[in-house]
Parts: sequence; structure tokens; C-alpha cells
Amino acid sequence: MNLTHKDYSESCPKAELLICFGFEGKKPSLPGGVALTKAALADFKGEARQVRFSDTTAGNVPRVALVGLGDAKSLDLEGLRRAAGVAVAQAETSGAASAVVYVDDSIAKLAGGPEAVGCAVAEGLVMGHYRYDLGKSKPEPFKLKRVNTLSKGSPFKQGVKRGTALGEANCFTRDLQNRAGNQLTPTALATDARGLARRSDRITCKVLDEAAMKKLGMGLLLGVSAGSREPAKLVHLVYKPKGKSKGKIALVGKGLTFDAGGISLKPSRGMEDMRYDMSGSAAVLGAFHALASIEVGYEVHGIVPSSENLADGLATKPGDVHVAMNGTTVEVVNTDAEGRLILADALTYTVTKVKPDTIIDLATLTGAVVMGLGHEISGMFASTDTLRDDLSAAGESCSERVWPMPLIPEFLENMKSGPADLRNITTPEMGGGSIAGAAFLSHFAGETEWAHLDIAGTAWNQKARDYVGGKGGTGVGTRLLIQYLCDRD
Ligand code: BES
Ligand code: MN
Ligand code: ZN
Repeated sequence: MNLTHKDYSESCPKAELLICFGFEGKKPSLPGGVALTKAALADFKGEARQVRFSDTTAGNVPRVALVGLGDAKSLDLEGLRRAAGVAVAQAETSGAASAVVYVDDSIAKLAGGPEAVGCAVAEGLVMGHYRYDLGKSKPEPFKLKRVNTLSKGSPFKQGVKRGTALGEANCFTRDLQNRAGNQLTPTALATDARGLARRSDRITCKVLDEAAMKKLGMGLLLGVSAGSREPAKLVHLVYKPKGKSKGKIALVGKGLTFDAGGISLKPSRGMEDMRYDMSGSAAVLGAFHALASIEVGYEVHGIVPSSENLADGLATKPGDVHVAMNGTTVEVVNTDAEGRLILADALTYTVTKVKPDTIIDLATLTGAVVMGLGHEISGMFASTDTLRDDLSAAGESCSERVWPMPLIPEFLENMKSGPADLRNITTPEMGGGSIAGAAFLSHFAGETEWAHLDIAGTAWNQKARDYVGGKGGTGVGTRLLIQYLCDRD
């Protein structure tokens, strides 16, 4: 779908379908020259997500879909994303090849103003039109090819541009997530990362292979990869801002393209979902997709360790000891706690080679976070109050919410090992599986300001929200990271 914007000047451009929004208890406002049947207007109550199709009795467009926004006083950006998601899905099923989405001033002025409204509407339209078809031999082509937003003024237009970039980045992230484990290997992931650097001359990409990892002493990452025939990769993307950089921020993403658990094998039921164990890395790559068209003032680094976790004769065995890049020896008590291992070496690499002001890692790290927080909100462990508050605020404003969780020393103390420095899991009576994972990572983040986002619950299986959720990956993290980068002073 090609989304463009037209400035509204009293008339509606030609299209097969016109989409108009309306509030509860109010007549929907239509662009000049368009008229509807009385019956359609009487039927349309404007309740949130209500849709009423009608033929026009006058105007440039043959058909209109009225989409409800609910109560004007309680409309927020999430409500607009959802309404736009409903609208685009209805437009697609209607068979129209082109649509105009009219947003009049009474809507554009609400919920944060025209730029924010334009952004939310575009996000909803682009994300709501997502379909995963890379696995199909004959993908069904989309019927809806062209959409024009129609509104007044340049802030709205700027918002549409931004929302389109964010929506497309989210869809890119979802495509990465949804690809099967044999289709998206660490090598394929690295190839796609290189492709991101070709989209912008501000972005460069370097990929470390296993020989380079060996040289750097990344024993934990190599130890996870040992049981796989697919070579591990470590992707390092860099975005350079236009003017003087305000500082350096590193985004680190867990990139397990398949997690079978290793020798501590997972049960087979639902194991196919472990294709999503690269969702953290997908979020980071998606952020770089957005950075090709959204400017931020910081130098941004994207570090993605990527591997499979399989069982094989060369695989790491429970009790094996590996040496981390920072010299820490780690007893791998459970080979299924592999995310923290590959992230540990990626964090050391980030701290020592990149030396950023702030690190944010994203990982489908623990099943426990799904028990604790469910599928609608991610677990957040932040080393400073500022980072915690900034990420919370960013999450609220883009509706990819995060919830603060504790970093406390007791868990790392419990992970002291007999035969090595650290175990990769706590002893069973500790509980708090997500806190344990974060505590292990904290040892490798060291003194650098750092936050860990456990997205195991939110990366897929989310409740359908019209523009995202339901089946498949959610692309969670990408919009959140860009929101954070843009809002940070
Ligand atoms: N990738 C999994 C975490 C996961 C599980 C994400 C289910 C989403 C749904 C991770 O590598 C893992 O296996 N974690 C273990 C850790 C345990 C062995 C300490 C877990 O959560 O069970
Ligand atoms: Mn695992
Ligand atoms: Zn995993």
C-alpha cells in the first residue's frame, strides 16, 4: 500500500472509497461536495470501531465508510491508531483499490494536536494493512493499493510522514519475526541488516563471524552456537546524526533465530513459537529501518548477537564452563537459559568497543515474565531512575508499554558457582525467573547506564488491537525505541 498525503482544500480527490471518522452522538464531518443517504447517517452512531458503509448521493467518490471514534473527550492516540486500523482492514475487504482518509480539524486538534494525530492515523493505516505472506508460494495480492490522507496544514502532513516510517519499520520487524527458523538463520539476519545500511548513507553495518568472535574471546556466544551447523553472527549497525551528536546510545537485541533449548531440550508442544526468539534483534533492526527516514540527534549503535540453540554432539552440556568476553567464567547449568549468555558477550562488546552513554537491550528472555505481566506490557529493568522514567513515558506515548521490575543483588549472589565464577541460572528456590535473568545481564553491563526489556510476553500472542496483535509477531520495541530516541534531550 502506498500512503501519501493531500492538503485539504474544500473538495475530495477522486478515489474508490472515502473513509470519514465520527464521534459518538455527532454527525460525521464530510469533505466538501460529498453527501450521503439519510439512512446511513441515521445508522451511524459513532461508537468506537463502528463501521457503516454507504453509497454517496453527491461528490467525487462513489462510496464512503464511516468509522466511529467513540466519545470525543476520551479519544487518545491509541484510539486513533485502532480506528485507522479498522478503517484500512474494511477498505481492503471492500475491494477498493484506492481510498481517501479524511481527518477534519475537529479530530486533528485533539489528542496531542495535528502532528501526533497524523502520525497515529498513518501508523494505524500502515500497520493495520500488514499481512505476513513471505511463506506463501502464491501470495494473494492486496486489493488496496493507494491511500491518501486528507487534512489541513503541514504539521499533519509531517505526522503522516513520520507515522508511515514508523508503521513500515514495525512491518519490517514483524516480517523478520514471522519468518520460519530455517528461512531466517543468523546468516540471513545479518544479510538483512546489511540491507538496512544500503537504505541510508547515515547507516553502516559490520558483521562479525565466528572467527572474529573467537579472537574477541566471546566464549558464551560461541558456546550457545556450538550445537548448531548454522554459524553465529554478530551484527553491528551504526547511525550517525546529521549535526553534532548529542551522545551515544546502544541498542542490543537477542537474536536466537531458533531456541530448542539445547541439551536442556524444551518440550515439543509449542516449540515452533521459538522462531520468535529473535524478536529483540528484530526490534533493533526495525529501529534502524526507521532511522533511515526519521532523524535523531544521537549516534545510535545496534548490536545483535545471533545464533541457534540446538542439541547436537558438539552442543554445550549442562555443567560445561565457558569463558565470557570479559573474562568471567560461566557454568552453564541449563542450556535453555541461552539468551543471557549471548547477550552477556554482546554487552561486553558494547561496553568495551562502543562505550555508549546508555544501553537498552531487548530480549525474549524468560517465560516467567509472561506469567508475571502477560502479553500487553513488557518487563523493564533499568539501572537509573531517569532511564526508567524516560522508557515508561516513551512506552505510554506509543502504546508499547513497559513496567518497572527490580534489579537487586540477591539474585546475582545466588548465581555464584562452585566450579566457575557464575552459574547461568539461580537455584530453584529463588523464584523470580525474570529478575534472575536481568541480574545475570547486569554483571556484564557493568557501570554503564543500562535497561533490559524482557519482551517474551509482548513479542507475539498479543490481544488483537486492530492495527497489531492477534496471530504472529507484534514488532514490539521498534516504535518504542524511536520514541525514546526522539524524546530524549
Ligand atoms: N526464549 C526463552 C524464553 C521464552 C519462553 C520466551 C517462552 C517466550 C516464551 C528462553 O531462552 C528460555 O528458555 N528461558 C528459560 C530460562 C530458564 C531455563 C531459567 C525459561 O524462561 O524457562
Ligand atoms: Mn531458552
Ligand atoms: Zn531463548
